[in-house]
Amino acid sequence: MEIRDEILKLKKEKNAVILAHNYQIPEIQDIADFVGDSLDLSKKARDTDADVIVFCGVKFMAETAKILSPEKTVLLPEKDAGCPMADMVTPEDVMDLRKKYPDATFVAYVNTNADVKALIDVCCTSANAVKVVNGIKAHRIVFLPDKNLGKWVQRHTDKEIIIWHGFCPTHHSFITPEDIKNLKKEHPDALVMVHPECTPEVIDLADEVASTNGMVRIARESNKKEFIVGTEEGLAYRLKKENPEKEFYPIKKAICSDMKKINLQSILNSLKYNQFEIKLSDEIITRSRNALNRMLEF
Ligand code: 13P
Ligand code: SF4
Repeated sequence: MEIRDEILKLKKEKNAVILAHNYQIPEIQDIADFVGDSLDLSKKARDTDADVIVFCGVKFMAETAKILSPEKTVLLPEKDAGCPMADMVTPEDVMDLRKKYPDATFVAYVNTNADVKALIDVCCTSANAVKVVNGIKAHRIVFLPDKNLGKWVQRHTDKEIIIWHGFCPTHHSFITPEDIKNLKKEHPDALVMVHPECTPEVIDLADEVASTNGMVRIARESNKKEFIVGTEEGLAYRLKKENPEKEFYPIKKAICSDMKKINLQSILNSLKYNQFEIKLSDEIITRSRNALNRMLEF
C-alpha cells in the first residue's frame, strides 16, 4: 500500500486529524485535514471532534493543542521539532522579569514553551498581537520572546512595551533588506508582504505585514498578480496552490529546519506507534490554558 493510503486508513481507524502549519512540506500540506497559521490551528485543535491530533509543526504548537484539548492524544511526529525562538526564554527569565516589573502585564507570543506560558498573563500570535496588547487594560507590558514582533507591536500602540531579546533565526537572519530589494528590482510590480518576525529594516520595505494566514488572505483578495513573500519559504506552496494564476517569489534560503523535520514516513510512524505523545502536567495545562483562553477571547 502507498504510504499516503496507509496514513489515510490509520487516520480513519484512530479517528485522528492531521493539522499542518503553513511551513510544512508540500506532501504534508496535501494530506492534512487543515493547513493554517498558529492561531487558526490552535482553534482547530480546540474545536475538533477527533480523538487524536497529529500535529505537523513544531513542539510549542503541539503543546498548545494539548493545552486546549487535554482529553485528546496529541502527537508530534518528530520529537526534536522545536522552535529556537521559543527556547530563548525560560521560566527563570520570566520570574526574574516579574520581580523587575511587578506592575506589568506579561504578554507572550504563542511561540513559547508550555512552562513559560504557565507564568504569563496572556498569549498572542502574529495574527492578533497588536489587538491583544491594545485590548489589555495595563499600560506597561512585558512582551516576549520575539524582539521583532515586540517592535512591530510598539509601532501600533501608545503603551510602554518592555521587549525581551529573542528572535526567529529564519526571519531575523535569512531575510535581509538586500533580499527584498533584489526581488523588488526583478519584480517591480510585485506586492511585498512580510512576517512581523522580520527585522524593522525589512518591515520598512514591505507593503503589508501579516501572519502566514494573513498573507494567504492578502494574496487571495489583492488585485495584484505578483507577490514577494517575506517569510519561511514553505508558505509559497500554499499560496501558489490556492492562486495558480498568480506568481509568488519567496526568499528561498529562508528555511526553518525544524519545520522541515516531519515527513510522510514520520506521520505514518506517529499514527502506528502513538509517537511522540505530548505530555504535560495538570498544573502546567491549567495555568497555561488561562493565558491561551484570554487570547482566544479577543
Ligand atoms: P504564524 O502564526 O504567522 O503562522 O507564524 C508562526 C511561526 O512560527 C512563524 O515563524
Ligand atoms: Fe520558530 Fe522561526 Fe521556525 Fe517559526 S520559523 S517555528 S519562529 S524558528
